[in-house]
Amino acid sequence: MSKEFDVVVIGAGPGGYIAAIRAAQLGKSVACIENWKNPAGNPKLGGTCLNVGCIPSKALLASSEEFENVSHHLGDHGITVSDVKLDITRMLARKEAVVEKMTKGVEFLFRKNKIVWLKGQGKFSGRSDAGVQIDVSGDTGTETVIAKNVIIATGSKARHLPNIPVDNKIVSDNEGALSFDSVPKKLAVIGAGVIGLELGSVWRRLGADVTLLEALPAFLGACDESIAKEAAKQFKKQGLDIHVGVKVNEVRTTDNSVSIAYTDRDGNAATLDADRLIVSIGRVPNTDNLGLDAVGLAVDARGFIPVDEQCATSAPNIYAIGDVVRGPMLAHKAEDEGAMVAEVIDGQKPLIDYNCIPWVIYTEPEIAWVGKTEHQLKAEGREIKTGQFPMLANGRALGIGKPDGFVKMIADVKTDELLGCHIISTNASDLIAEAVVAMEFGAASEDIARISHPHPSLSEVMREAALAVDKRALNM
Ligand code: NAI
Repeated sequence: MSKEFDVVVIGAGPGGYIAAIRAAQLGKSVACIENWKNPAGNPKLGGTCLNVGCIPSKALLASSEEFENVSHHLGDHGITVSDVKLDITRMLARKEAVVEKMTKGVEFLFRKNKIVWLKGQGKFSGRSDAGVQIDVSGDTGTETVIAKNVIIATGSKARHLPNIPVDNKIVSDNEGALSFDSVPKKLAVIGAGVIGLELGSVWRRLGADVTLLEALPAFLGACDESIAKEAAKQFKKQGLDIHVGVKVNEVRTTDNSVSIAYTDRDGNAATLDADRLIVSIGRVPNTDNLGLDAVGLAVDARGFIPVDEQCATSAPNIYAIGDVVRGPMLAHKAEDEGAMVAEVIDGQKPLIDYNCIPWVIYTEPEIAWVGKTEHQLKAEGREIKTGQFPMLANGRALGIGKPDGFVKMIADVKTDELLGCHIISTNASDLIAEAVVAMEFGAASEDIARISHPHPSLSEVMREAALAVDKRALNM
């Protein structure tokens, strides 16, 4: 007799595991199918984010920032350190320990919420009166489970260049680039997006000479133009060599090097030689081998599962969330959708305002934004006003030695409603939360301008930028 559950979630990344927990909180019987194994062969929850994405990359970003500070910036504080050494093995072990803590934490949450972890690969095999049938193939064979409701949360995988196999030695994707066993002298990165900039920053801080090749003519095209311009300036100052508008023609590898032939933005042939290459050109949804046709589902031309605004697919009682559906490939967007779908299954009426989902790039300075850019709003014909305030005029930013960047707010000319907030600064990932709350509550820029902000803190720049919308910043 098959096991039956109210909800079966396929995938235990941030979308899937949050969906499972929320459904369990609402009294459902829940199973979550997850097949992930770490390099030692141990089954792991948490998906890409916890195992080879957000969490380990932030651990390495922190370690590499410490190294850079000790090596180059402590002198400003009157602290002299000599004989600074890098123990890459220990740095990677710390990163793995952080990952282990987080994935064990999800295991604990599964036990606490009585969620059954089905270790294996899930594949739809049909539908009966009892529900949707899913075959789970694991180390000990295949079992079939029956689900009243299914949430597909299978995430995404790195997109690779055609004919350039990723061996995670010379040519790496996000996974291999988190585990280089030594600092490459010369590192090439194809794709100057989120992963390219974050991992390029990690290895640059640790001593690599980093060159990024970006196909699009504009750097960070999704950001507000003023932020992208400032970011380009800051990254250049740090030593990241970024080439936009390039066309990669051929990648040749040897046992210990890589050579990339490309055409630069002016149409000239060029070659980039390096010890290692990171390919970070976007991600593709994991929708292969799911047996979607067994339940009457199909993917769109780009491999995504079509869903409505509440993540319902065209098949009854089957939902899809996170990187396998439209919208940004962001862990917190997947989490929001996971909680929403669990509540929909419970008969509630939750909604997500996708315009209020923040974006963050964890470089230094960090880049974060929510809402629309100035360019997007002008293209829509909105009449807007903007306010900008530099970190340089903030006492806390000066005190901690992080005076680079600014906050920019955009509001409607007539109603003053906050339409976008764009930040490039240290800790932008935390600062943006205030703008997210404001936008979710339909606040005006004046609302932020009138709220008391602690002094001295970076958050004062949020208030000053809001005041600047009305041309009355106080400290500028
Ligand atoms: P991305 O979409 O951020 O950047 C990929 C870049 O590669 C783009 O700028 C694109 O124009 C460029 N590109 C594409 N094909 C190319 C080619 N043949 N030659 C040169 N350049 C090319 O994707 P990325 O960095 O791979 O990240 C994947 C996903 O993971 C993103 O959706 C991102 O949002 C998510 N992510 C989010 C993080 C965060 O929230 N901080 C951290 C890491 C990843």
